[in-house]
Amino acid sequence: MLEIMSRRRSIRKFTPEPVPEASVEALLDAGLLAPSGRNARPVEFFVVRDKATIERLADCREGHSGAALKTASLAIVVTARPEKSDIWAVDASIAATHILLQAEVLHLGCCWVQVMTRRCGPEMTEGAVRKILNIPADLSILCMIAVGQPDEAKEPHVLEGLDRSKVHYL
Ligand SMILES: Cc1cc2nc3c(=O)[nH]c(=O)nc-3n(C[C@H](O)[C@H](O)[C@H](O)COP(=O)(O)O)c2cc1C
Repeated sequence: MLEIMSRRRSIRKFTPEPVPEASVEALLDAGLLAPSGRNARPVEFFVVRDKATIERLADCREGHSGAALKTASLAIVVTARPEKSDIWAVDASIAATHILLQAEVLHLGCCWVQVMTRRCGPEMTEGAVRKILNIPADLSILCMIAVGQPDEAKEPHVLEGLDRSKVHYL
């Protein structure tokens, strides 16, 4: 697992090659397998494959922040029901992280694109994404995960580079 975690990097450039159906299913299984507080399971996913729609999602962030979605062949939008859990954002973050790690196992590239609390111009990113995908108001949106076949290579993280001063032994 440490090796997979080390290899996982944010990839923001993808080839046009699609993500195989079996890989999409595995990514969603990884998300659904995530633990949640009090086992409330508030997290729900929206799977977007239409290129034109994914490009519109990229424009819901300002500047370079949504860039990974510009060439992605798949976007997984991670949402949750606040009525089911007051810590829905924590649960959704764990589910998103499961997906990022499973993508690495599948040799796919991916990148977290933040939605919650971000803006695109005067509008909140969440409102813009909600409108494009018709996401019901009772689901809050945490992030979008851009996924595809990588078209850039990044060096893995190395364990020797970790800042161990952040660990406090008592
Ligand atoms: C909570 C969170 C929000 C992030 N938001 C964005 C984002 O909006 N756009 C983006 O391109 N990358 C985003 N990232 C990716 C980070 O920039 C990236 O993980 C960080 O720079 C470390 O690089 P690495 O993922 O290659 O290890 C986000 C990552 C996390 C965990």
